Amino acid sequence: MKKNLLVGMLGLVGILAGCASVKTADFDDIKLYTLKNKTGTMVKITNYGATVTSIVTTDREGQMADIALGYNDVSGYMNAVDKPYFGSIVGRYGNRIALGRFSIDGEEYELATNNNANHLHGGVIGFDKVVWDAEVIGAHALRLSYLAKDGEEGYPGNLQIAVTYTLTEDNELKLDYVATTDKKTPVNLTNHTYFNLKGEGEGDILGHELLINAKATTPVDSGLIPTGKIIPVAGTPFDFTTAKAIGRDIGKKDQQLEFGLGYDHNWVLDKGDKDGKMTLAATVYEPTTGRFMEVFTQEPGIQFYCGNFLAGNLKGKAGRTYVNRGGFCLETQHYPDSPNQKNFPSTILNPGEEYKTMTIYRFSAK
Ligand code: BGC
Repeated sequence: MKKNLLVGMLGLVGILAGCASVKTADFDDIKLYTLKNKTGTMVKITNYGATVTSIVTTDREGQMADIALGYNDVSGYMNAVDKPYFGSIVGRYGNRIALGRFSIDGEEYELATNNNANHLHGGVIGFDKVVWDAEVIGAHALRLSYLAKDGEEGYPGNLQIAVTYTLTEDNELKLDYVATTDKKTPVNLTNHTYFNLKGEGEGDILGHELLINAKATTPVDSGLIPTGKIIPVAGTPFDFTTAKAIGRDIGKKDQQLEFGLGYDHNWVLDKGDKDGKMTLAATVYEPTTGRFMEVFTQEPGIQFYCGNFLAGNLKGKAGRTYVNRGGFCLETQHYPDSPNQKNFPSTILNPGEEYKTMTIYRFSAK
């Protein structure tokens, strides 16, 4: 066992508590890992769903708090009410595919539908509900891999994926995604952590000040499927090009806000000439604690979802209720429903190619 990486056997006992009735996974294979750096930042990850269960960071006074929503036992993740996907990797296709259908080279595919008539976050048993293989790499990284079989949830091709979580001494949580396939298939992987920079369970996130480095969004229909248009944010509640409180415009009369019950949309990131390269996608500042988070990504889009479907019926790790909008997600991604939208960047991975993308969440306080 390396000094700074505690393979969390004690944590494992914690996470397994109260999971007697589960059938989908082999419990002996489910573990909890802890990444820790010299500044005291700590990230816990389980190989069930490649899920980040906890992120402990400092505020401006040096007070540590867990800023990621989640459960304290694995049954919470397995039996989640309203399926919030706390902390997990979602895929094979993160976000929605209209009616669960798409075609590649004239061949039609039908996916499991799990969000009314649509497919969301990989289907009924997406990557958030499977047990990944785990490999501890050096002192600060964990590599999780999974082989999604040809036909799983309706997708074509055996897809071998790996996500490596690295916690750096600069308080960056780095996510490296790689995947290969033996048949053409759509792939869109992202992480679904809900953040509350005040601390998980500390009320809503409406006072957090958000900046999204994007001049346009992809508007949706009432089922949250993109219409295919790309529209400017200027003059709308979707303009986060300069930082503003998440709650400032959320109550304004706007059809897109009505469809999402708030923000639940994909922003088209300003990449300039840096297509496919790391750029700053978003920043979030929480004024009462001073916590600050930056998101960098190689992806062309980001889903900003502000926990509109959290209904106040879940209790989190410390027993506190997760209120409506008690957490927000910044899901770096390709745009939703890309397999059916010809003018969106392609999400099709071909045999012989490598899907390779990186996202970084950097934590500080000021
Ligand atoms: C989606 C929401 C969905 C949520 C599930 C988000 O990525 O955009 O519409 O309800 O995931 O927790």
